[in-house]
Amino acid sequence: MSILLTGGAGYIGSHTAAVLADAGQTVVLYDSLRNSSAEAIRRLHAITRRPPVFVEGDIRHTGRLARVLQEHGVEAVIHMAGLKTVAESISEPIDYYHTNVQGTLSLLDAMDSLSIHRLVFSSSATVYGEPAYLPIDEEHPLRATNPYGRTKLHIEDMLLDLARSNPRWSIACLRYFNPAGAHESGLIGESPRGVPTNLMPHIAEVAAGSLSRLTVFGGDYDTPDGTGIRDFIHVMDLAEGHLAALDFLSANTGWHAFNLGTGRGYSVLEMIAAFTAASGRPIPYRFQPRRPGDVAVCYADPGKAERLLGWKAWRSLEAMCASTWRWRSGGHAEDASGVRAWA
Ligand code: UD1
Repeated sequence: MSILLTGGAGYIGSHTAAVLADAGQTVVLYDSLRNSSAEAIRRLHAITRRPPVFVEGDIRHTGRLARVLQEHGVEAVIHMAGLKTVAESISEPIDYYHTNVQGTLSLLDAMDSLSIHRLVFSSSATVYGEPAYLPIDEEHPLRATNPYGRTKLHIEDMLLDLARSNPRWSIACLRYFNPAGAHESGLIGESPRGVPTNLMPHIAEVAAGSLSRLTVFGGDYDTPDGTGIRDFIHVMDLAEGHLAALDFLSANTGWHAFNLGTGRGYSVLEMIAAFTAASGRPIPYRFQPRRPGDVAVCYADPGKAERLLGWKAWRSLEAMCASTWRWRSGGHAEDASGVRAWA
């Protein structure tokens, strides 16, 4: 089957491309390279031993998308292209609504014009907002608390309307918890531009010595060690979740939401300890007040994905840390992200 992966050169996109190629699927990557790099595509070639089909393009270009879908005989789309930094979404909401919401509309237009109705969408646990109960299942109330989260919610709603309007659509919204780790080869991984805002890439930079220390946001949460707890999921498990979702959609129409998480949480201090063990490097840190908008604890009930997709995350925290370190310490991260502005 030929599958279009929008945002395919990004962190989750490149790992998903590796998993799909390994499963014998034909993958077409579509990416603007705004927050990713062509180096990831070269690395993907080394991993899959097949040159990936790559088209550089903006997600808002309906005509271009339609041409790519047609030229490559695409049967299903995994839509990952989008912006994902909470703070940036608060200062640049127009950019976020344009890229995420308008970009999705343009893709849907292109798909509909060619009668391609199978879609996996990259959503986020951010759509749940402050947890009302734990673990969070898919029935949990939806209430995003920032523009980034609202773009994800709007898109989920649009997709639901679409599925209701035409029974030929098969749509899965995958609500990611906290992706971490890298491909086992250490050739591809997470390379945010600028100083990383997420925990794992920030820890990796401190271990590598390019940042002097980690700031732990809040040591006074109502958790066993006082720091925030999250459901970190290995990016390769997450990538395999997309393959399972595609299989599911080949037999099921309608709109479906699935949590992709592990069902267990680790605290910030547990993450630091695990990464110290994996890297053998000290990770100096200091406490600062809580980061606005952060919740104390968040982890998934991944039971629905296990029941309906036959998918379950199985890789360990140690594997997440070891693969991240292999990627970061191999020097690959620097090549793939371009110049490190803060180094
Ligand atoms: C964040 C976003 C979320 C988004 C997700 C995407 C916020 C408030 N939330 O989730 O909407 O879907 O990224 O990946 O930005 N931490 C530190 N020091 C750091 C960085 C993080 O102590 O330098 C702590 C945080 O306070 C939190 C935990 O580490 O307790 C995880 O943080 P992070 O990796 O940013 O993920 P989320 O906040 O869960």
